Amino acid sequence: MNLSVLLFLIFTLTSCAFASSRAKDFGYSSADLVSEETLLNLFHSWAATHDKPYLNSPKTKSTKFEVFKDNLNHIVATNKRRKSHWLGLNAFADMAHDEFKRNYLGLNPKPKYSTHTRSTTFMYENVTNLPKSIDWRTKGAVTPVKNQGGCGSCWAFSTVAAMEGINQIVTGNLTSLSVQELIDCDIKFDEGCSGGTMDYAFAFIAAVGGLRTEQDYPYTMEEGSCQPAAKACQAGSEAKKVSISGYEDVPRKSEESLLKALAHQPVSIAIEGFGRDLQFYKGGVFEGPCGTELDHGVTAVGYGTTVDGREYILVKNSWGQEWGEQGFIRMRRNPGNVEGLCGMYKMASFPTKSKP
Ligand SMILES: *[C@@H]1O[C@H](CO)[C@@H](O)[C@H](O)[C@H]1NC(C)=O
Ligand SMILES: *[C@@H]1O[C@H](CO)[C@@H](O)[C@H](O)[C@H]1NC(C)=O
Repeated sequence: MNLSVLLFLIFTLTSCAFASSRAKDFGYSSADLVSEETLLNLFHSWAATHDKPYLNSPKTKSTKFEVFKDNLNHIVATNKRRKSHWLGLNAFADMAHDEFKRNYLGLNPKPKYSTHTRSTTFMYENVTNLPKSIDWRTKGAVTPVKNQGGCGSCWAFSTVAAMEGINQIVTGNLTSLSVQELIDCDIKFDEGCSGGTMDYAFAFIAAVGGLRTEQDYPYTMEEGSCQPAAKACQAGSEAKKVSISGYEDVPRKSEESLLKALAHQPVSIAIEGFGRDLQFYKGGVFEGPCGTELDHGVTAVGYGTTVDGREYILVKNSWGQEWGEQGFIRMRRNPGNVEGLCGMYKMASFPTKSKP
């Protein structure tokens, strides 16, 4: 066998393996797409996997089937274009884009209150010798991906993930913290399921002396009244708080500054999250399309470069572990745009915490 035949075989084998593992990732195969009947079968098995109650209600079912087919068309067409990212049938597959936009975001991008002044100091400004890559998951500073559900509370998830990170880095203790406490209690400037801003949340937490744990004050996916700490004590668990000293903003529109901060801790960032490709993102280095109108809070937890040289920021989302790469997304760096892909360099900030 000569070398070129051998190379051809190796290439064919690896690309087949790649294609079939991808096809599984997509949640459909080409055989599912051939007729209305196969599409309906695909829809039924998808809906059964996701416990959709409407399978017994013919009217809702047929409306949802139409939405499903429209989403599937978009997914199939995008995957054919072979971008560096690919899309899949995920838990949002029966959700019309407007419904998704209304329920799964929740950032108030332009703080309405004059009390908010962006910080002018940046503690990492003189950092040099950045590592080539960093992944805070491997350093034990990232809790499992959570799911905000149909509540516009992304801002609270972003805040909490950045706090969980700095708390682990400073104390060595990785503890899942309460998103619900922010939704119920941080209500002066933030608005629960109707949206909020990470900086307000950091300021609130610093002012009240800390945040309780997820275990003490679990997520309910809706706005409730602020539970006094005493209640948690009566329930038998000690209402321990995890504190921060304050927060700082990353200088805007600067990828380098974001990397400097990320080299030291997870960072809250804001993006334009309503894009359809984001709704169905399944894997790879995401490259848009998206604009820079910020509407979603997430948390950057690392950065790196793929083997084929694509530079990315690693981001933790709050849309469950089935979305994206086990709940994470790699977003392309350096898109030749100072605002960053989806505006991710426009509104980054992080909590500060000193050693006890
Ligand atoms: C960075 O270096 C400059 C010049 O030496 C200094 O004035 C500044 O305080 C330093 N910034 C920080 C955050 O240490
Ligand atoms: C970690 O922090 C939480 C919250 O403060 C506390 O309940 C827990 O006991 C701590 N774990 C360790 C091992 O220190």
